[in-house]
Amino acid sequence: MNKNKWKKTAVLLLLPFLFIGQTGCGTFSNIAPEEIDEIDEMVSVQENDDLIVVGFAQLGSESMWRTANTNSVRRALTKENGYFLLTDNARQKQENQIKAIRSYISQRVDYIVFSPVVENGWDTVLEEAKDAGIPVIIMDREVSADESLYTTWVGTDSFKEGENAARWLEGELKSKNQLYEDVNIVILQGTLGSSAEMGRTTGFHSIAARYSNWHILDEQTGDFTIAKGKEVMQQFLKKYKDIDIVVSQNDDMTFGAIEAIEEAGMTTGVNGDMIIISFDAVREALEMVRAGKINVDVECNPEQGEYIAEIIQKLEKGEPIEKEYIVEEKIFTHRNVSKYMEDRTY
Ligand code: AHR
Repeated sequence: MNKNKWKKTAVLLLLPFLFIGQTGCGTFSNIAPEEIDEIDEMVSVQENDDLIVVGFAQLGSESMWRTANTNSVRRALTKENGYFLLTDNARQKQENQIKAIRSYISQRVDYIVFSPVVENGWDTVLEEAKDAGIPVIIMDREVSADESLYTTWVGTDSFKEGENAARWLEGELKSKNQLYEDVNIVILQGTLGSSAEMGRTTGFHSIAARYSNWHILDEQTGDFTIAKGKEVMQQFLKKYKDIDIVVSQNDDMTFGAIEAIEEAGMTTGVNGDMIIISFDAVREALEMVRAGKINVDVECNPEQGEYIAEIIQKLEKGEPIEKEYIVEEKIFTHRNVSKYMEDRTY
């Protein structure tokens, strides 16, 4: 179909969704005011025929990392850069994300970008996108679906992040001549069934399994949020009197856990009662690494918007692309963190 005609069809198809949005039963029922503006603007897409329409189904706004990730996409896919970006916040619910993707399919957007809240259960909706001829770019977390059902994936290597956290612990205990001493570990997991949680859990376990003196007392989900991280840590503290190490699979849960530990009269970090291993490396957490409250922060890089823009540009020109793009990541401790703080934008 000729692209101009396509865009006009998109406008017509969108109109029913405007009403659905107003009655609160459609994909856009939970939208923020700026998103309403976007929908209004979509009506005038016919005047912007040259814009590339991207439907972005974000999984939620559960963490500081997520906000940085959403902002990265918004910064890269601007009108000035030639894009018209539709966004949806699924509030950590797969069914909401599926609804959003379906609405993008019926609006006949040019591309769909989405970060899957969990790994399984995407095959049907991905098939629907494929049948509609809409390229799907998966971002951040992974899906278990067949590779032929999506165009490409941009994200982080969660298994390696988990391994890196355990390798850091190995080095730390070795430097103190404690590598073979008994240590008690608790793990605050992210959203169960997400590739971020599964990768970090299995990556950490793969190294921990080598040490019979590393006792993993418990692992529970805190769903990647401050409130749940605090709640789960409070339960761990009630249940176990001798926790040495907390592995918290994101910074938000770490903030909650540290609050719980301090409220219980204990300290964390370099000279504290408990070693804290965190993931993400958002600015607030790096400040705590610098202050010695968090021992190590394994980066999960949210800056993925530029990759998406580059991939779309290549696809528009008919150039070949890779099936996966893994973003670069670092590990921060109080020894190296200061030199990275100045440039940290999130
Ligand atoms: O998928 C990336 C993870 O999701 C980040 O570690 C976490 O903060 C977010 O909620």
